[in-house]
Amino acid sequence: MLANINDVQMHWQEAGSGEPLVLIHGFPFDARMWQQQLAHPKDGWRYIAPDLRGFGHTQLGNARELSMDVFADDVVALLDHLGIDQAVIAGLSMGGYVALSLAMRHPDRVRALVLVATRAGADNEEARTNRNALAAKTRAEGSRAAADAMLPKLVSAHTRMKYPQVVEGIEALALAQPPEAVALALEGMAGRTDYRDDLAKVDFSTLVIRGEQDEIIAAADMEQIARTVRGARHEMIALSGHLPPLEAPDVFNKILGQFLGQLPPALKLGDFSLSF
Ligand code: MLT
Repeated sequence: MLANINDVQMHWQEAGSGEPLVLIHGFPFDARMWQQQLAHPKDGWRYIAPDLRGFGHTQLGNARELSMDVFADDVVALLDHLGIDQAVIAGLSMGGYVALSLAMRHPDRVRALVLVATRAGADNEEARTNRNALAAKTRAEGSRAAADAMLPKLVSAHTRMKYPQVVEGIEALALAQPPEAVALALEGMAGRTDYRDDLAKVDFSTLVIRGEQDEIIAAADMEQIARTVRGARHEMIALSGHLPPLEAPDVFNKILGQFLGQLPPALKLGDFSLSF
């Protein structure tokens, strides 16, 4: 689907109907990474998967920077366009950085949070230097540069051996992204906010999911989120690398579906009047 959101034409995919769940993709992909979730939405749920600004079929517009906040504000504007007050917000890796930015700056729009293979901290100096160097290389050489840097670390050895079609699919997806958006997103991730000290303030139901063999996000980073967010549920998916929704879609969908099924009912606007 397409609509004018902020200053760009934004593209998103939808599946199912009912209570809203937004699925925010990782880097350097687009909404197609959620194909196995969009194919099996939980009954009573409406899955909404946007292509972030500059990625997939969403325009880059005049953006000179793609911060996690810019991406998050676009998602909020999409919710406005769809007439949705509150949604469950899920994000994988860079999508998790965006989900955290959205949760911290627009908490009233979040019903619950699903953080997949992501971290709350900012880049250290070395990571920032590497990202900025990769951004420059991507501008000079195209999206192949970023794809080549990322691909060896994205999936587990098990996935690589057993599901070569998954590896081919993610390579095609990475190569399909425009180099300027890829470079801007790398710079945006390098400059992102450190939310570790804010995690204790989160008071939505939160699910943390990680792949057992993730080579990009350290287990300690996810454990820290799960430990600090009150009542967070923490799930690890065996044999999966950094991309559980693609590497272990059935297990991932089951965990996600159970979490959605156990959420307290959404508050309606009228419910607040009782307390006055
Ligand atoms: C992602 O999967 O979105 C990226 O690997 C995130 C990152 O590089 O920090």
